[in-house]
Parts: sequence; structure tokens; C-alpha cells
Amino acid sequence: MKASSPKSYRLHGLTKRCLGPNYDVHGWQPRLLSAAEATFDFRTLTVKALRPSLFEIRNHYSPAASVAKNTTQLVAFGVNSPDIDKEPIGFLLASIAHNTNEEDSQWESGLSILSLAVKKPWRRQAVASSLLEASIQFANSNGLTGCCIDQPTTTDFASALENLFSEEKGWRLSSESVIFTLDCSTSGIIELQKRFQLASLHQQRQWGWHVEQYPSVLTPALKSRLLDPNIPKWARPIDLRQFPESDQVSPKHCRILRVENDVVGWLIAYHAGEDLIRYGTIWVDHLWQKRGGLVALLTDAVQAAHYPEVYSGSIDLTSSFKYKRGCCTYARENIAMRKFSEKHFRPVSAHWVEIARKTLRLKA
Ligand SMILES: CC(C)(COP(=O)(O)OP(=O)(O)OC[C@H]1O[C@@H](n2cnc3c(N)ncnc32)[C@H](O)[C@@H]1OP(=O)(O)O)[C@@H](O)C(=O)NCCC(=O)NCCS
Repeated sequence: MKASSPKSYRLHGLTKRCLGPNYDVHGWQPRLLSAAEATFDFRTLTVKALRPSLFEIRNHYSPAASVAKNTTQLVAFGVNSPDIDKEPIGFLLASIAHNTNEEDSQWESGLSILSLAVKKPWRRQAVASSLLEASIQFANSNGLTGCCIDQPTTTDFASALENLFSEEKGWRLSSESVIFTLDCSTSGIIELQKRFQLASLHQQRQWGWHVEQYPSVLTPALKSRLLDPNIPKWARPIDLRQFPESDQVSPKHCRILRVENDVVGWLIAYHAGEDLIRYGTIWVDHLWQKRGGLVALLTDAVQAAHYPEVYSGSIDLTSSFKYKRGCCTYARENIAMRKFSEKHFRPVSAHWVEIARKTLRLKA
């Protein structure tokens, strides 16, 4: 028999069936899910972009398997309703990874929460809190040294998330960023891209820079920038050889900005989903800002990724994929990118979300 209201279970103190041996938090029994349970029963409790990865979920953590640098393992926790239907009502998806954020030296291997959701009728009854606590207990008992989440701060659920990941509960703010998504089939973006291309051509003639493919092996010019103290850590270039295929860097869409023999800027792009590319780090040296370099890097990569049929740059796009959507993240402290994006991209963006990266140090 189905409950008329989920609350009635709590009010009348009905005994919930224990669905798993692992956890009992706030009166709920969140449990580790298998890939099959997550894929077939809980999939609607996470966003579409993450659903293909549910197949990769493990119902245990194997430290040996993640020792190899940059490998991640997915784990998921679920809560079912206490009624006879045992309907899936809450879901938390996380990956276990080695920390690659040099600015956050608090943890070496940690649990990164990718998504957390509770079905509407069951909200505000500590289901999310129980899932979160179960994941923290899991991390602690597996010797992980931290947890982190990229917490959206401008959505309808911002205050709930602020409570879940609050300072009183030990979470610390480690960085702030913005993420926005563009649907490149819309007329607004097509027009913007055309304007950027014209502006780039004009600026290139004036300043003499070139946009080229990011080298697969770091050149001495780029290598010297890896530890350049004038470049913030989040903006530093990367060595593509250190990123295996699973890390989804998309070399065909990574760019450098060159002036004679100097590299003065770069853009690093990642395959982020079926039809989605993410423009991650975008950096132009201060001296070369306001000279069209940022627009040139983006325009070339965007044209290759979304409009390869009219691509006019210097990169070989043989067997290149055409992406429908692009998203871009940038650190809030990246003032140049912030001003630029607010002015040009925000009015035509499909989604615009501000993110606070929160971290929790564990006892291990
Ligand atoms: C955010 C969400 C997961 C919270 O789930 P929940 O089960 O209702 O959360 P809980 O009942 O455990 O509440 C956690 C805290 O947030 C507070 N809270 C919950 N909903 C709230 C709301 N709408 N407004 C203000 N505070 C709220 C609770 O009072 C509690 O505070 P406390 O820890 O100080 O007691 C749920 O609202 C949801 O699924 N939202 C849609 C998906 C989403 O935005 N996910 C986050 C992206 S990763």
C-alpha cells in the first residue's frame, strides 16, 4: 500500500525496513548501490549528462586500482522509501580521485560529490543529510583524506546546499567559479561567433599573433610557463601526455597563442559529454590582454568544435566530432574572463551557474 504522504511514516513512527547493512543515519538507511541499481532504479535522480557513467559504478572501493595517477572510481549511495514500494527517493553520486588541485593541499585522495538529489515529496526530511553522512563515513572508513563538492550558489536550492555544506559542519570554501553553457545551434551564438571572427582577423593583423594547436609534447616555451610565478595555479598550462584518454582532454580543441617564439596564451578543452565540450583553462598574459588574443583562442576552438564544416583555422580536423553544446568554467578571480563573459556570453547562455568549491578534511 502506498503512503498518502511520505511524512506520515515519520509522524506515525513506522519502522523502516533496513535496506542495507552499512549505514543508519537520521533514521534513514542509505546504502552503497551497485551499477545495475543506480542505472535502472535511480537514474532519474541525476542529470542526463551523468547517466552514461552510472554503468561504471562500483559497490566497493579498491585503493590499489586508484593508485595509478589520475584514475577515478565512481561510487553511489541511495535511499529507498520505507513503504512497500521501496521507491528510490534519494541519490548521491561521487567519484574517488587523487587531489590534483595544488591549492588545496588538505587532502591527497578524496571523495568528490558529483550529484545529490532527493525526490520532491521526500525533501526536508534529512534524506540528503543521511546520504551525505553515509558518503563521509564511507570515505573515512576507506582511508580517504577529504571530500569536496562544487556547490551551485545561485540555484533554487542554494540555501539547502549552504546548510548541507556549512562551515559549522566542517566544510571550507576553497575556490569560487562560474560555469555557463552555450547551445551553439542558436542564432545568438552563431551571430556572436561571426562577430568574434571578424574582430579576431582585424586584431591579428594589428598585433601579429597566431593561434596554433596545443603541442602534444611541451615545447621549451610552454614548459617555462609551468612554474611561472606570475601565472595563478589554476591558469597554468598542462602537459597533455600526463592526461590519459580517460581524462577526456580533447587535444584537437586545445590551443596556444603565439607571438614570434613566445607562447602568450592557451586554451585547454575537455570532452564533457555526448554533445558537450568544456573550455577549461583559458589564459592570456597580461601584456597581451585587450589585444584580441582571448577572442582568437576561443573563436578558433569554438569554430572547430561546433562548426567544423566552415572551419578556417590551421588545425587538421579529420575525424573530428561536431559538438552541439559548449560550456566554459572560469575562476571568479579571473577578472578579464569574468568581464568578458558577463558582457558577451551571459545574455546568450543556456545555463549560467556560480559555483563554490567546498572541501571537508577527514580524520584519516
Ligand atoms: C538540495 C536537496 C538535495 C536537499 O535535500 P533534502 O533531503 O531536502 O535535504 P535535508 O532535508 O537533508 O536538509 C539539509 C539541510 O538543508 C535545509 N533545507 C532543505 N531544504 C531547504 C530549503 N528548500 N530551503 C532552506 N533550507 C533547506 C534543511 O533544513 C537542512 O538544514 P540543517 O542541516 O541545518 O538541519 C534537494 O532539495 C534536491 O534534491 N534539490 C534538487 C537537486 C539539487 O539541487 N541538487 C544539488 C546539486 S548537486
